[in-house]
Amino acid sequence: MDGGSKANIIGLTVARNAMAAANVREEGIAGLSQPLRFYASDQVHSCHQKAVELLGLGNRALVRVPTDSRCRMDLEALRLLIAADRAAGCRPACVIATAGTTNTGAIDDLQAIGALCREDGLWFHVDGCIGALLAIAPRHRHLVAGLSEAGSLALDLHKWLHVPFEAGCAIVREASVHRATFALHPEYLEEKPRGIAAAEYLFDYGLQTSRGFRALKVWMTLKEHGLNKLGRLIDQNIDQAQYLSDLVRSDERLELVAPTLINILCFRFNPGGLDEAQLREINNEIMLQLQEDGTAALSDTTVHGRHCLRVAICNHRTRREDLDVLVREVVRLGESLMIGQLDRNTPIHPTCGRRAGPPAIADDSD
Ligand SMILES: Cc1ncc(COP(=O)(O)O)c(C=O)c1O
Repeated sequence: MDGGSKANIIGLTVARNAMAAANVREEGIAGLSQPLRFYASDQVHSCHQKAVELLGLGNRALVRVPTDSRCRMDLEALRLLIAADRAAGCRPACVIATAGTTNTGAIDDLQAIGALCREDGLWFHVDGCIGALLAIAPRHRHLVAGLSEAGSLALDLHKWLHVPFEAGCAIVREASVHRATFALHPEYLEEKPRGIAAAEYLFDYGLQTSRGFRALKVWMTLKEHGLNKLGRLIDQNIDQAQYLSDLVRSDERLELVAPTLINILCFRFNPGGLDEAQLREINNEIMLQLQEDGTAALSDTTVHGRHCLRVAICNHRTRREDLDVLVREVVRLGESLMIGQLDRNTPIHPTCGRRAGPPAIADDSD
């Protein structure tokens, strides 16, 4: 247990060793007869690049597969890339599907990717840091159908299970393959049938020898609230994201930048007449002002080339009224910034030293 980045690194390390066709533990990547290739969508979280870098494979080993208009991995492109790599002498090793991308919450087609990996003899890893817990949401668990096919899975319990930071988790289907990647028993760590070290050693399944008892807070959360309630809260957040999407769609000054599937919503203030650079500037300023005045903790991102505000609703205290306020404030700030921009573009009068243009604007932003 640790953050989701490390959970992914553990899964990909097992995948590398299992798929290398060489004894990587003994010989390192110098023992590989062909370069390994891992595939993930162009929306994949940056921790996977860190993982392939740390694993000695290099960033080029992580092939970014283009995504469709719903930000899901394009499976035809995946097939073509795998075939091209084989033809070029590389060894396709693993497909990393994302269940809930960081940018938009998109979920790759887990069933189809699982089937492709099975047929093609590839390792199937799922980055479910955001979305794996959909599996406990009564009305949305169908979105992650196919998750159970994964050879390895990373998930973050500090996200939708509301556990305090941090509590990532790596699950590997075959315990023996998992152990074969990490197990080491020097003379001071011999296994004992009895005594205080009688249980199976957890350091055989990961990087750490000493480790904190992170599982306790997860167990306490489950005991205190139960899976049913936690699952219903996930459904609630998704309903709220849909509510927010409807608010955005119903205001012509706002624009949805990606489809809203789960609890992540990408939108921007776009009243028309602004180019991409101006939209970026104005929405960035909206985000910073909302953060600084404490109204809302939005982030921003860029989806298929379009900059936007990003809302991730994962708080059990969020109410629809909060989302009403958010939309109202985004529009209010956007409009007052537009006036400021118009103002900046208006020449200063040479004699009075003031700008012409809309004079007394009722601006309550002070
Ligand atoms: C899809 C995805 N994968 C991996 C991670 C990394 O997880 P962590 O921040 O817990 O290391 C994140 C973080 O938000 C994520 O959204």
